Amino acid sequence: MPDHGKLEPWRLIILQHPDLARLADLAEARAREMVGDEQKIAKGRGQFDLGHLVVAVISSPKPSDKVPEWEQRLSAGALCMNLVNAAAAAGWGAQWLTGWPALDATFAARAFGCTGAEQVAGLIHIGGMGNPATDRPRPDLARVAQWGLA
Ligand SMILES: Cc1cc2nc3c(=O)[nH]c(=O)nc-3n(C[C@H](O)[C@H](O)[C@H](O)COP(=O)(O)O)c2cc1C
Repeated sequence: MPDHGKLEPWRLIILQHPDLARLADLAEARAREMVGDEQKIAKGRGQFDLGHLVVAVISSPKPSDKVPEWEQRLSAGALCMNLVNAAAAAGWGAQWLTGWPALDATFAARAFGCTGAEQVAGLIHIGGMGNPATDRPRPDLARVAQWGLA
């Protein structure tokens, strides 16, 4: 894992049933508390109801004079991407999701014990490939990358 300063600015929670069912209930309760509509409730429950193996990657920046918080956040993002790639290389399907519950500080605190500056960087879903989905449009490299300075 890229980890400037060896700060370990992340922690992982590996989730299966029945934890996922608990998370779905927590998401529903939080949506109701926020006076969310049925769509918000369904979206909040959805990924936990459907998931089988989920790794919650918590960005957990550490106090440092040398390594800015920004780099520590990027380290958590890199961890997520490495996890997706490692799962794919081993023949699994994997997807990086967040969704409103992951972005809601109250849910993150209740569900994953996030405190202080901790945030959910990703909920990495890992499973069988099933029917491979049709691919999404990919970025036009010529638009997002340039050779040399403008
Ligand atoms: C931080 C982050 C959060 C994401 N959250 C969601 C999400 O909540 N729902 C979703 O459908 N895709 C989400 N995505 C997108 C998917 O993880 C994935 O990038 C997209 O489906 C394309 O995957 P592919 O390039 O393997 O086809 C998120 C991506 C990132 C980087």
